[in-house]
Amino acid sequence: MTVQDQRPIILTGDRPTGQLHLGHFVGSLRSRVGLQDSHHQHILLADAQALTDNADNFEKVRHNILEVATDYLAVGIDPTKTTICVQSHLSALNELTMLYLNFVTVARLERNPTIKSEIQMRGFERDIPAGFLCYPVAQAADITAFKATVVPVGEDQIPMIEQTNELVRRLNRQIGHDLFPECKALLSGTGRLIGFDGKAKMSKSLGNTIVLNATDKDIKKAVNSMYTDPNHLRIEDPGQVEGNVVFTYLDAFDPNKEEVEELKAHYRRGGLGDGTVKKRLEGVLKELIAPIRERRNELSKDPDYIMDILQEGTKKSQIITQATLDEVKNGLGMFKF
Ligand code: TRP
Repeated sequence: MTVQDQRPIILTGDRPTGQLHLGHFVGSLRSRVGLQDSHHQHILLADAQALTDNADNFEKVRHNILEVATDYLAVGIDPTKTTICVQSHLSALNELTMLYLNFVTVARLERNPTIKSEIQMRGFERDIPAGFLCYPVAQAADITAFKATVVPVGEDQIPMIEQTNELVRRLNRQIGHDLFPECKALLSGTGRLIGFDGKAKMSKSLGNTIVLNATDKDIKKAVNSMYTDPNHLRIEDPGQVEGNVVFTYLDAFDPNKEEVEELKAHYRRGGLGDGTVKKRLEGVLKELIAPIRERRNELSKDPDYIMDILQEGTKKSQIITQATLDEVKNGLGMFKF
């Protein structure tokens, strides 16, 4: 076996419902770029999953596949190291999902805390699309089809990992040997990035995002509107760092942690104005985003190149997922010609 073959397998994914933003960058993109050498990394453009709550908007989901793929490449995900694939073109995943649904109860599906809160957020009440309720099982199919052991996700996805591992244990028991490894979530450590309005997590629907191709003007505007400490009226007043969005962002993005700590101490003591801290953050974000924006603009000129990458990644993934489906059907003792 070569060294390469021993690298742990990663499967991760995004619902292509909009362009990616700085929340995705700190939450997952940054670590994916770092993981692609030490792991076999597969990234799924989860368009089928996105449809579970966008059945009236196929156009949006289709359009955003290319947008999100462009974001991946722009931040430095390297298609020679990471396989990028389109979920709806991996039909083995659907077959696995159908099989797995026999090993989970409706009560268990309804108990998933992420599903529960998403149902509330989307106002589904009793009109829950069946596909939506079942998407954690489809996600278990995604993860197991690639035999992934590492799944880099945000905290909200932990219940999906738990449900996947329950299914893994159940299937292995049914099959009679450990066909599937259990997987673990890999959290980014930064947690969810708050939106620049300071009110809630960064999210497109709330209009508080900074996208990965934001212009310098967009960045300036977002930073200037950031919430600081409302009691920090004069520069010489002592200020509060906790809950101060500008410092939250400096913690997430400023590479010089030591200087950020010094700034915090100075702000707490008094004598440091909001304007100075905001100027620093503006500089940090501009420096981070400028090369991503440039690469993104270049890539956007050549959609065929991105299509080729997706097609190639999807082809490779079709082979992997089909092989797993064959193993599962065999293992479960299904009919063979
Ligand atoms: N549910 C994930 C999200 O909303 C996206 C996703 C789909 C995913 N399939 C996956 C994540 C498999 C990790 C592994 O962000």
